[in-house]
Amino acid sequence: MSYPYQIKSLEEYKKAYQQSIEDPEKFWGDIASNFTWRRRWDKVLNWDFKEPKIEWFAGGKLNITENCLDRHLPSLAEKPAIIWEPNNPEERTRVVTYERLHKRVCQFAQVLKNNGVKKGDRVCIYMGMVPELAYAVLACARIGAIHSVIFGGFSAQSIADRLEDAKAEFIVTCDGAYRGGKDIPLKSVIDDALIGNKTVKRVIVYTRTRTPVSMIKGRDVWWEDEMRAVTESGEQAEGYGQIEVMDAEDPLFILYTSGSTGKPKGVVHTSGGYMVWTNYTFVNAFQYQPGQVHFCTADIGWITGHSYIIYGPLTAGATSIMFEGVPTWPDAGRFWDIIDKYKVDILYTAPTAIRSLMGFGLDPLKGKSLASLKVLGTVGEPINEEAWHWYDEHIGKKKCPVVDTWWQTETGGLMITNLAGVTPAVPSWATLPMPGVQALLVDEKGQEITEKDADGYYKGNLCIKAPWPGILRTTYGDHERFKTNYFSTYENMYFTGDGALRDDQGFFRITGRVDDVLNVSGHRIGTAEVENAINMHASVVESAVVGYPHDIKGQGIYAYVTVTGFRGDEQSTRQDIIQTVSRIIGPIAKPDKIQFVSGLPKTRSGKIMRRVLRKIAEGETSNLGDTSTLLDPSVVEEIKNGKL
Ligand code: WTA
Repeated sequence: MSYPYQIKSLEEYKKAYQQSIEDPEKFWGDIASNFTWRRRWDKVLNWDFKEPKIEWFAGGKLNITENCLDRHLPSLAEKPAIIWEPNNPEERTRVVTYERLHKRVCQFAQVLKNNGVKKGDRVCIYMGMVPELAYAVLACARIGAIHSVIFGGFSAQSIADRLEDAKAEFIVTCDGAYRGGKDIPLKSVIDDALIGNKTVKRVIVYTRTRTPVSMIKGRDVWWEDEMRAVTESGEQAEGYGQIEVMDAEDPLFILYTSGSTGKPKGVVHTSGGYMVWTNYTFVNAFQYQPGQVHFCTADIGWITGHSYIIYGPLTAGATSIMFEGVPTWPDAGRFWDIIDKYKVDILYTAPTAIRSLMGFGLDPLKGKSLASLKVLGTVGEPINEEAWHWYDEHIGKKKCPVVDTWWQTETGGLMITNLAGVTPAVPSWATLPMPGVQALLVDEKGQEITEKDADGYYKGNLCIKAPWPGILRTTYGDHERFKTNYFSTYENMYFTGDGALRDDQGFFRITGRVDDVLNVSGHRIGTAEVENAINMHASVVESAVVGYPHDIKGQGIYAYVTVTGFRGDEQSTRQDIIQTVSRIIGPIAKPDKIQFVSGLPKTRSGKIMRRVLRKIAEGETSNLGDTSTLLDPSVVEEIKNGKL
């Protein structure tokens, strides 16, 4: 594989950026020509942010898995596509070559067909990090079914909501998953999620942990049995391994993410643009060279795993590591062992992981070489300078460029980032936009910021002026919501929900969300979502949730709650509320602090003054701003005094 569109110098970056803005159709048309299409597009880009309507490569026909697999077979058949590192380091590694991956994907595609899955059907995937998860994802894409992967840390209730929203008819899951010292009973969670569900017809269960599971006749089948049936008769079966030829704008997947309202939204990505964008950003930001080993530590349940474990690396013919476990098990040297074991070239992880590993000091690094590393990346939340320097010094040994990649579920791939060793790196700055990304900062009214603040930076809300190939196309089943969420805050612009600074060189520093979305350990969680879950608890009258700075998680969840009374004491009620949130959303949304209050600070019109609550949670009680519109200012005093 060669990547003729790989940018090699700052000059080339500037040129590419300029071209991408002046003539986006020519720019992206040239890049897209490097992929396998069954039919060339009629028009590179149609767009209107008012409607909103966005089409890339309209009229083009392709299958993304042909680009991930088939086209590599002549030259890369024996090369590892996926190297799987099990949770338990004593267990055998699995190396899946391109040839093997192709075969397994074709087989499982046939399994899906045998079970009635057709183009456009929604298949929910709820599995641990095993290679079969990647097979399932790619098999869906191969036959044109829309995959919707749900992260293993979500509860039955969250899954049930997503199944209903997507009207999913099929589920692929595991009996259980291993994560560190824990076994997670995935199938049992699915069983709970299916109580009352009316759409799901078939559940395919892969055996991983041999946890006892219930299997319902007519609905649940074993992965192994289905695969055996295909391998025994399959390759001769009609249509085996055959690709569904997709329109560039056919949906590829739905991925649910949190916004400022209570209900997570189903972000929809399509085939053509997403393929080009994940590949282009992968090859450029990480400066991937053929033969290198790429280790993205994310879970495939999140967008980072979709784009930088599966689609970006595989379209590039790369070797991608898939790690089942967690960074701190059996000890805090696990990542470093994996890097040495497979001679990893590129490590892509989250600031929260770096901070947590920093906390173990340098002992876990003793005896680890890390000499294979060439590039380091971070994603998911702003990285503080201390963590950046630790990463650079102790992991990269000051010889690996660190790329700080800002992007979102909605953007499909990296948006603002330095390019490893090609454009400058500045600690805690994401720096320059990728070619095609027209980023700007606006004030509350949507006017571009043209004046610097006292520190010499432009400061405002981050928007994007024009579409890039990886932009989401809609929110599943609710196009109006897509419009309201992203294109209504400011006219004719995509609003990211983030605030940022820009300097004179055009470098961006992302400061964090400006809407009611928290970023806890790099996971997006809506405050309204957590409040709804807390309010489900029988004794809760009302609640307000805000974020506060947390040393390791980046942000912690702080809940102010009013109750009708305590069961036993405060502490046991607190535990009950945490348990409730865990049941309704999942363990990732558990509040870190719950402060019981007699009332919430409200304005005369009944609106909760979150600004005040946020300040108190952050410990900035001396400067609460204007509280004159409060109905009862005495609550604020009480809350301040009771701060946890
Ligand atoms: C935040 C993850 C600062 C941001 C790919 C964004 C970041 C949200 C960075 C999206 C970064 C992501 N620096 N903040 N490098 N990367 N964010 O959808 O607030 O899970 O809006 O996508 O994470 O989270 P999501």
